Amino acid sequence: MGSRLQGKVAIVTGGAGGIGEATVRLFAGEGAQVMIFDKDEAASRQVVDSVASTGATVDYTIASLDVESEAEKAVTRTVERFGKLDVLINVAAVRVRGTVPDSTSEQWDFIWGANVLAVSHCCKFAIPEMKKNGGGSIVTVSSANATVGRPGMGLYDATKAAVLAMTRSMACDHAQDNIRVNATSPGPTLTNYHIKRRAQSTGKSVEDVEAEMRAEGAPHTLLGRQAEPLEQAYPLLWLASDESSYVTGADFAIDGGISGLRD
Ligand SMILES: NC(=O)c1ccc[n+]([C@@H]2O[C@H](COP(=O)([O-])OP(=O)(O)OC[C@H]3O[C@@H](n4cnc5c(N)ncnc54)[C@H](O)[C@@H]3O)[C@@H](O)[C@H]2O)c1
Repeated sequence: MGSRLQGKVAIVTGGAGGIGEATVRLFAGEGAQVMIFDKDEAASRQVVDSVASTGATVDYTIASLDVESEAEKAVTRTVERFGKLDVLINVAAVRVRGTVPDSTSEQWDFIWGANVLAVSHCCKFAIPEMKKNGGGSIVTVSSANATVGRPGMGLYDATKAAVLAMTRSMACDHAQDNIRVNATSPGPTLTNYHIKRRAQSTGKSVEDVEAEMRAEGAPHTLLGRQAEPLEQAYPLLWLASDESSYVTGADFAIDGGISGLRD
C-alpha cells in the first residue's frame, strides 16, 4: 500500500470496469477513500468487495449520471459517507458506432447524455463541495480520437472533443477556487468492453479473444500495442494527487504515440 492519496476522498465514475476499475484499485491502494459512481450494480459490488478485502475504504453509488438528479444524489451521498470531496475522476462513457448520416437523434441523446452531460452533472455538484474543502482536482477522460480522425465514430469522437473543451473552460473558471481541471486522452486500451464485444460478435471465448487482441497489438500506435487499464490509471493518480499541483487546463496523451504521428 502506498500513500500518494492519503487522506483524500475520490469519486471515480465508471469505476465498475475497465480503466475506471483499475483507477479505483490504484487510488484505494494509495490511501484514498473511494466512491464508485456507476449504473452497473453487480459489477460495482464485485469491485467494492474485492477492494475492501484489502483493507481499503471503498463504496459505490448506483446512478445514471446522464440524469442530473441522480448525479446530485450521488455526490451528496459521497460527502455524507466520507465527510468531504477532494477528487473527481470522470471515466464513465458509452460508444455508438456508425456514420453521421446513419445516426439517429436517439443515439445522439444517448451518447451526449452519458459522455458530456454526465461529466457536467458530476462537476456541477462536485465543485461546490471542493470549494468548501479549499480546492480539489478534477480529471476528465477524453480520447486520442477527440483530435485524431478515424472512420465510423463521429458521434463518440465529437463527445470526447466536447469534454476537452469543457475541461479547459472549467480550468479557467475554477483556478481561483484552487480546483485544478485536467484531461487525459487515452489511446487503445484493452478493457473488458472491447474483449466482450469481439467475443459476442465472433462467438469465440473471452480468453481466446483476449489472447488474439494481445497478439494483434495496435500497429497504428508507436508502441505497437494496446495499453493495459493500469497504464491509464497511473496518469490519473498523478493528476489527482498534490504531485501535479501546478498543472491545470492540460490534456495528456496516454496513447502509445498516436498523437506523435500527427503531421
Ligand atoms: N478502452 C479504450 O480503448 C479507450 C480509448 C480511449 C478512451 N477511452 C475512454 O476511457 C474511459 C473508460 O473506457 P473503458 O473501456 O474502461 O470503458 P467501459 O465501457 O469498460 O466502462 C465504462 C463504465 O461506465 C459506466 N457507465 C456508462 N454510462 C454510464 C452512465 N450514464 N451513468 C453511470 N455509469 C455509466 C458503465 O457501466 C461502465 O462500468 C471512457 O471514457 C472511454 O471513452 C477508452
